[in-house]
Amino acid sequence: MERLDKIISNQTIYTRKEVKELIKKKRITVNDEIITKSDIKINEKKDIIKIDNQVINIKKYIYLMLNKPKGYVSATTDKLMPTVLDLLSKEYLHRNLFPAGRLDKDTTGLMLITDDGDFAHNMLSPKKHISKTYNVTIDIPITNEMVLGFTKGINLSDGECKSAILKKTGENTGIVTLTEGRYHQIKRMFGCYKAKVLELERIALGNFYLPSDLKQGEYREFTNEELEKVLEK
Ligand code: URA
Repeated sequence: MERLDKIISNQTIYTRKEVKELIKKKRITVNDEIITKSDIKINEKKDIIKIDNQVINIKKYIYLMLNKPKGYVSATTDKLMPTVLDLLSKEYLHRNLFPAGRLDKDTTGLMLITDDGDFAHNMLSPKKHISKTYNVTIDIPITNEMVLGFTKGINLSDGECKSAILKKTGENTGIVTLTEGRYHQIKRMFGCYKAKVLELERIALGNFYLPSDLKQGEYREFTNEELEKVLEK
C-alpha cells in the first residue's frame, strides 16, 4: 500500500503539489470515486486510479531500449556533453532512470535504460556472462592473427588478459562478442594490432538484437519476452 500522491508523482509528470491541485479540482478518481485527500492508501495491484477519466497504468519499473547515436555519453549527468537521458521525453524524466552499462561517446547502438537496480546489476554482473555483440569497422584489414588473438586473449595495458569472439564479415569489418565489458575494451584489443576502430555499433545484448526499425535516437519499452532474451546467454 502506497500513498496516492506518491504513486501519481512516480508514475506521471505531475508533482505531489500538482496532485493536490488536481484533487481540489475533483479530477482524480480511485475506483471511480472522486478523491478528496492526497494521502489515501492505494493498493497498486487492485485500485484503478484515473486522472480526467484516463487510467494511470502503474509500472513498478521501466525498461527502455535505446538506439544510441554518436555524441551522447552513457551517464545520468555530464557537465559538458548531452547524456542518453536527454533523448527521453518528459514522461520518463521523473523516474530515476540510468543506463545499464556504458557505450563510448562515439559508439552507437543498443542500450538498456532502466530504474530497476537489481535487474541492471544482474545483467552487468560478469558472473552472469551476458554477451554483448558489436558491429565493428577498423582502419586496416582484419587478419587471422587478430581473430586467433581475440579468442586466445590479449594482454591489455592494465595487465588484464581479455578474450572475445571476432568474426570477419568484410575486409575491414567484423562482429565482436564480449562477455565482459572493460573500459574501451574493443578499441584497446584492436589497438594491440595497431588498428583503429572507426565505427562501433552494439547490435545485441544477450540474445536480444537491436530491432531494425529502431532508428538512432529512438527508444521504446521492452516487452517481457524481449527482456527475457536480454538475460539469455
Ligand atoms: N568497447 C569499446 O571500445 N567501446 C565501447 O563503447 C564498447 C566496447
